[in-house]
Amino acid sequence: MKRSWIEVDLNILQENVQAIRGAISPGTELICVVKANAYGHGAVPVAQRAAQAGANWFAVAYLEEALKLRAALPAVNLLVLGVVDPSDTELLLEHKVIPIVATEEHGMALALAARKFGRDLEAHIKIDTGMGRLGLPWERAPDMIRRLAKEPGLNITGMCSHFAKVEPAEPEAAGTQADRFFSIAKEAEDLLGRRLFKHLSSSRAILYQKDWDLNGIRPGIILYGYGTGKKDMRFRTRPILQWKAFVMQVRSVPAGLPIGYYGTYKTRQPTDIATLAVGYADGYLRILSNKGYVLVHGRRCPVVGRVSMNWIAVDVGPDSGVKRGDVAVLIGEQGNESVWANELAQKCITIPYEILTGIDSSIRRQYIY
Ligand SMILES: Cc1ncc(COP(=O)(O)O)c(C=O)c1O
Repeated sequence: MKRSWIEVDLNILQENVQAIRGAISPGTELICVVKANAYGHGAVPVAQRAAQAGANWFAVAYLEEALKLRAALPAVNLLVLGVVDPSDTELLLEHKVIPIVATEEHGMALALAARKFGRDLEAHIKIDTGMGRLGLPWERAPDMIRRLAKEPGLNITGMCSHFAKVEPAEPEAAGTQADRFFSIAKEAEDLLGRRLFKHLSSSRAILYQKDWDLNGIRPGIILYGYGTGKKDMRFRTRPILQWKAFVMQVRSVPAGLPIGYYGTYKTRQPTDIATLAVGYADGYLRILSNKGYVLVHGRRCPVVGRVSMNWIAVDVGPDSGVKRGDVAVLIGEQGNESVWANELAQKCITIPYEILTGIDSSIRRQYIY
């Protein structure tokens, strides 16, 4: 029996891109974040459709991801948000991929490598304004930028930072980071004598803060339809991914039958148990044992017993009429019911990002155009 599969609706992706585009300032570029294989959705098809919908910039974590995108999208702007090894500078130059400068030494090494090829490498300076992760520490950034600006081989065209926390009830956290960023950007622009391409906001900041649209925004999770829906947010997007599996087997069983490893569930009444070929090895997390719901025949049916490596059992109810080959929905909608990644995330004490990126990459992705 076939394995489970993913359906990605690129028409909804296009609507999501348009919803974001329609809400942000007309001069602001959309830098679509398509790292981690577009949060598990498939980087190339997602980027191609987003580009058709008007996005001109794409951001990834690793150079390899950028090179894959470059082969499919020769004309778009590509930015690597992670730290590119200076030994890969030739690839950056050849494929017109923009790295971030993560530390002063990193910038110096990139500049030196570019000079060896007699070229200028375009780069965006990353400022750590409070995330404590990557970037020039904000307190020392102006001096570092002064030194980097003098370095032949480095063409600083942009500047970015990343918020650690965007909570409307506690505006000071992101506000402080934004103030640091604006002050450093102004100093850098004065020093360089030109404007930089500045980008700061990812999904939550985009949803709440019009003032921080700047030259570019970096939407990730909202492209894929999660994180929106609160009434004080600027717009709403919809999930584009559904995860489905065929029912492999249905068995009518008596009351009191233990199900799965260690019999952690016992049927309470005579019922039908459907088995699906999906398990924790596919990214359907084991913590969903006796907690998750799957849609079958348009009804929410509980996952019973432990999620095992490749299979789960679902109680589809007595006289269900469910048969082998029927389609079950692990993430998505069927009839009037839905189970989205945020519901699974809540049950798994995580975030939809982890649910989506955790779906095994070897599971077939089908695209709806
Ligand atoms: C630097 C940077 N920008 C933007 C994003 C996109 O974030 P989100 O998916 O919350 O929009 C990420 C995601 O991790 C990131 O690391």
